[in-house]
Amino acid sequence: MTEPLRLGIAGLGTVGVGVVRIIRKQAALLARRTGREIVISAVSARDAGKDRGINLAPFVWEQDAVALASRDDIDIFVELMGGSEGAAKDATEAAIAAGKHVVTANKALLAIHGQALAEAAEAKGLMIRFEAAVAGGIPVVKALSEGLAGNEITRVMGVMNGTCNYILTRMESEGAGYDTLFEEAGKLGYLEADPNLDVGGIDAGHKLAILSAIAFGTRVNFAGVELEGIQRIELEDIRQAADMGYRIKLLGLAQRSARGLEQRMQPCLVPTGSPLGQLTGGTNMVVIEGDAVEQIVLRGPGAGEGPTASAVVGDICDLARGLRMPVFGQPAAGLSQAPAARSGLPAPYYLRMALVDKPGALARIAAALGESGISIDRMRQYGHCEPTAPVLIVTHKTTREALDLALEAMAGTGVLASTPVALRIENL
Ligand code: NAP
Ligand code: HSE
Repeated sequence: MTEPLRLGIAGLGTVGVGVVRIIRKQAALLARRTGREIVISAVSARDAGKDRGINLAPFVWEQDAVALASRDDIDIFVELMGGSEGAAKDATEAAIAAGKHVVTANKALLAIHGQALAEAAEAKGLMIRFEAAVAGGIPVVKALSEGLAGNEITRVMGVMNGTCNYILTRMESEGAGYDTLFEEAGKLGYLEADPNLDVGGIDAGHKLAILSAIAFGTRVNFAGVELEGIQRIELEDIRQAADMGYRIKLLGLAQRSARGLEQRMQPCLVPTGSPLGQLTGGTNMVVIEGDAVEQIVLRGPGAGEGPTASAVVGDICDLARGLRMPVFGQPAAGLSQAPAARSGLPAPYYLRMALVDKPGALARIAAALGESGISIDRMRQYGHCEPTAPVLIVTHKTTREALDLALEAMAGTGVLASTPVALRIENL
């Protein structure tokens, strides 16, 4: 058997502890599968005195993650601290400078600094593996960059934030409001330290930007993701969508066309019977379409100790077996810079608004839509409660640009009692 593969792990929270547990529990299995013993040399976290429920005594404790990353007795630096800046970035850069391969679960780091880190690693013949960064336990990075390498990828879609899917699913099943379920998600430990990363769509946007780079051979462009969170979704939207045969999902979609690279992460109505419509709770789903394979659907746990650590250990095994490939599937220096195609192809939109209840109010809204060239498919006024009148409109296919013009015109009519909720309908 060849020399053991030696790990330095920075970050001993949910994922880090999970990785230590798997490496210990499956030591013999991993050695059989990779032909090498996998050992942990040193670890690091902020608080050396914290009880983490595991025995860390056999490992060297390194207080500084940067120092850990450049130790002579490690071959792979495993970054499980999180955050796009600070210790995670500094230590990853230090590891590459010291000639270490990197395994990380950090989507924020890769979405913001992925290109520079990939170029630095590849210049030294090193690998950065990041399966756990997208959709937790689902091997979607591997599927895209390896299993589907023979395809021209046409579209990548999915639900990639378990917290948002949990909140939206429970709103429907429990009939509870967004605020109540946001609080519940916090109590269950689902929310990121900054909850806006989850409910603002940022975390899922990071994941989509990473998948786009692999799928379309483009530089990671998080700034090019059209982002919208779920904070404005009300129980009424969930009910109205259900009534029309739809569910609301925080849906990511990336596709490349002559117009450029379209990347959207936003709440959308999807048919209840579709695979994405059927996805409940904290589960993730990624749908990949390619010219040869047609469509594949990957579904599984997007977060949590076991599933995320499973993906991290899979990456470690790849390195132990000697796998070498460019970080994003093709050399980083050759990745193209696709222009961002904003707003996507035309689609029907769901509009919910409260109107001031006075003569001509509805006519003004209809006129604003008509003047932007938007045709109304369905419209109804429901649950009239003075002094406002709730109105639901479903448009025929239109562009986001036309809709934004109409919404601007509506805002100037003086008949809106609140800002309309506007959601794209994706008939997948
Ligand atoms: P976590 O539970 O908050 O753990 C973070 C760990 O990093 C803690 O052990 C913390 O030390 C350590 N740390 C933070 N800042 C540090 C610093 N400046 N120097 C040294 N150590 C530092 O986070 P997590 O949930 O395990 O997530 C880790 C990474 O995996 C993140 O990038 C996250 O986005 C990603 N991820 C997580 C999940 C999931 O389900 N949790 C799923 C997919 C991806 P102390 O313990 O001493 O405070
Ligand atoms: N906060 C993330 C989620 C964790 O809810 O999906 C996994 O990346």
